[in-house]
Amino acid sequence: MSDTAKLQVAGKEVDYPVLTGSVGPDVVDIRKLYAQTGTFTYDPGFTSTASCESGLTYIDGDEGVLLHRGYPIGQLAEQSSFMEVAYLLLNGELPGKDELDKFNNTITRHTMLHEQLATFYRGFRRDAHPMAVMCGVVGALSAFYHDSTDITDPKQRMIASHRLIAKMPTIAAMAYKYSVGQPFLYPDNSLSYTGNFLRMTFGVPAEEYVVNPVVEKALDRIFILHADHEQNASTSTVRLAGSSGANPFACIAAGIACLWGPAHGGANEAALNMLHEIGRPERIPEFIARAKDKNDPFRLMGFGHRVYKNYDPRATVMQKTVREVFKELNVSDPVFEVALQLEEMALKDDYFVEKKLFPNVDFYSGVILSAIGFPTTMFTALFALARTVGWVAQWNEMISDPEQKIGRPRQLYTGPVQRDYVPVDKR
Ligand code: SDX
Repeated sequence: MSDTAKLQVAGKEVDYPVLTGSVGPDVVDIRKLYAQTGTFTYDPGFTSTASCESGLTYIDGDEGVLLHRGYPIGQLAEQSSFMEVAYLLLNGELPGKDELDKFNNTITRHTMLHEQLATFYRGFRRDAHPMAVMCGVVGALSAFYHDSTDITDPKQRMIASHRLIAKMPTIAAMAYKYSVGQPFLYPDNSLSYTGNFLRMTFGVPAEEYVVNPVVEKALDRIFILHADHEQNASTSTVRLAGSSGANPFACIAAGIACLWGPAHGGANEAALNMLHEIGRPERIPEFIARAKDKNDPFRLMGFGHRVYKNYDPRATVMQKTVREVFKELNVSDPVFEVALQLEEMALKDDYFVEKKLFPNVDFYSGVILSAIGFPTTMFTALFALARTVGWVAQWNEMISDPEQKIGRPRQLYTGPVQRDYVPVDKR
């Protein structure tokens, strides 16, 4: 492929460099386009736009490939741990045993929250959505941890990164406890990252909580599946917020707000609600027909993806994990059968085949999280907990990128051209 792209526009013919990455599509570097031609590009939703250079995660949507620093998600899900993947995304290489132990110890010792933040929760209604609480409490962290908000200091950036990764489970567990009227539990440093989260969520002061190792492993794997995913909407939000120099706590709070949307991280909650609404396999054709009806805004939640035009590899691991958790907990849920049959029927339907709509990471996650005991409203909070690792890694990469500058897109203006003000008595 030539290393330049020729563009004829506004009566000019200009060559633009074509940049090649280590894998994936080349990009046309159009940074000088406006200065040279007075023309913008137009790409609502950024379907053909690379916003940055990154070495963290690579997705091949046609092949259903997802790599974190080059390692396939299937191998990481089966052989790694969420903390090891966090280290990998933050530092670029898999840690040696001593490095991993040191990282685990560092994260473990940042899991407590400033005691004043516990009173912060008491300002919310008990029925507040956990994502509303997460937005508020994570944004408030910048009012407590002033010693790690100077983004020009790499040491402070890393402390803030560790604090965010470490405190998200505590914040999410406290949001759940507050919603059910139970007391908060402090972190227990003798437990794993994920075991600690399970105990803070489901444990009570009245008795010892024993972590179920199969559930711990399944949830840790679910966190791995949600860790990072290129420049998705919430990650792009974190990068855009960070490009203005905002502190990392505010940037992650912005990411949480964006993730909440049902087209994005909110889809796991919406997908389980949809499966419950379908209720039984006989009603599946009715919902497939609605999803195909252009006049009906209903979409199959947990289906389709901007990048994956083949099976989301995370959904494959997720479905396998459902079977493991169901077997261990000796549970069954008719909703899982509905999900399996819905997937089978949709993938035989021309509409979904032609539009390349496959189950995504959100399609099965709710089935497992529900079986473990999480209420549906906590599903997106768990997604935010896990994606904080990716957001923090992407934020650090952006801050360290010598080419990064404040994000400021332009527009195609279609409003009124200049006109003079008319006093109200003359209108
Ligand atoms: C996540 O970006 C990421 O990486 C996100 C994520 C991550 O890890 O960060 O992977 C997490 O957000 C997964 C996606 C979760 N969202 C859902 O499951 C919600 C349901 N899915 C859709 O809303 C949709 O598929 C999106 C938002 C996920 C993707 O939308 P796109 O790429 O903008 O595609 P589109 O809306 O233009 O749809 C293309 C066509 C349309 O039909 P036409 O206008 O061409 O006739 O496919 C149709 C859509 O109507 N379509 C669906 C559908 N998804 C797309 N029709 C029915 N059901 C669906 N789920």
